[in-house]
Amino acid sequence: MSTPERKQPRIALVTGAAGGIGAAIARRLSKEGVKVVLADLRADHLAALVAENSGPFAALEVDLTDRASLPDFVDRAWEVFGGLDTLINAAGLYPSAPLLEMRDDQWDQVMDVNLSAVFSLSRAFARRVVDAGTGGHIVNISSGASARARRGAAHYCTSKAGLDMLTKAFALELAEHRIHVNAVSPGFIEVDSEVNPLGADYVRSIRGGQPWPRAGVPEDIAGAVAYLCGPDAEWITGASLSVDGGAGTGNAALPLS
Ligand SMILES: NC(=O)c1ccc[n+]([C@@H]2O[C@H](COP(=O)([O-])OP(=O)(O)OC[C@H]3O[C@@H](n4cnc5c(N)ncnc54)[C@H](O)[C@@H]3O)[C@@H](O)[C@H]2O)c1
Repeated sequence: MSTPERKQPRIALVTGAAGGIGAAIARRLSKEGVKVVLADLRADHLAALVAENSGPFAALEVDLTDRASLPDFVDRAWEVFGGLDTLINAAGLYPSAPLLEMRDDQWDQVMDVNLSAVFSLSRAFARRVVDAGTGGHIVNISSGASARARRGAAHYCTSKAGLDMLTKAFALELAEHRIHVNAVSPGFIEVDSEVNPLGADYVRSIRGGQPWPRAGVPEDIAGAVAYLCGPDAEWITGASLSVDGGAGTGNAALPLS
């Protein structure tokens, strides 16, 4: 019986790399010897990350709402280290807007960043990888919110539900090119985001409902991404891996019935 081909990612593009989860993923991949192109709207934060890291890190500013620019952006990222084999879609917006008050532009912005940009970037990335014939990995950072609605997050939950299906659709069509496409679905992760601030009541309540007795940290998500891009996940594609301290099982804060 032939052993499956075991390939580690070598050059990765990570979006949302100035954010809590994206930065942790970039650092983790870098520790494993991967060259990383960091992409985000916040160029100043990217520059700080590059300065702090001793491995091969490069920063590229991108606005994911500018969809027409994304194929060129992938070409630019490709040039940085002479190729790409891994794309991590970690950029995301999770603002709060009650359904009856939600404006079209609020809906559109979340859909643009969380879903449409992932489609455009992944398609551009996949075209180049198919041409290069190397195979590769796409990992989408989804959310437990893809399966459970919550107040004020109709746009967010819908975008992540769409992202889970996009993951499957890409996995199905790209398998013949040996491009793995998977999702990681975080539960609540402590990132203290400037871009996505959360209310104190919400944070208290969501923490209280988690079964596992410690908070989730960005490194939990980075570990799952590294696993999905690593040799032990060779036969995994189209999957969504929950990394949520058991939050998907139910609400641990409910009293005995
Ligand atoms: N933190 C959590 O509890 C949690 C839970 C589930 C899922 N997630 C998902 O994890 C991902 C990362 O979230 P985070 O918690 O690290 O948030 P974060 O706010 O720390 O990071 C998000 C990053 O996305 C970038 N971004 C936003 N709009 C952009 C645009 N138009 N162009 C380029 N970059 C843009 C921001 O600048 C920011 O650096 C998101 O997709 C989020 O939905 C987070």
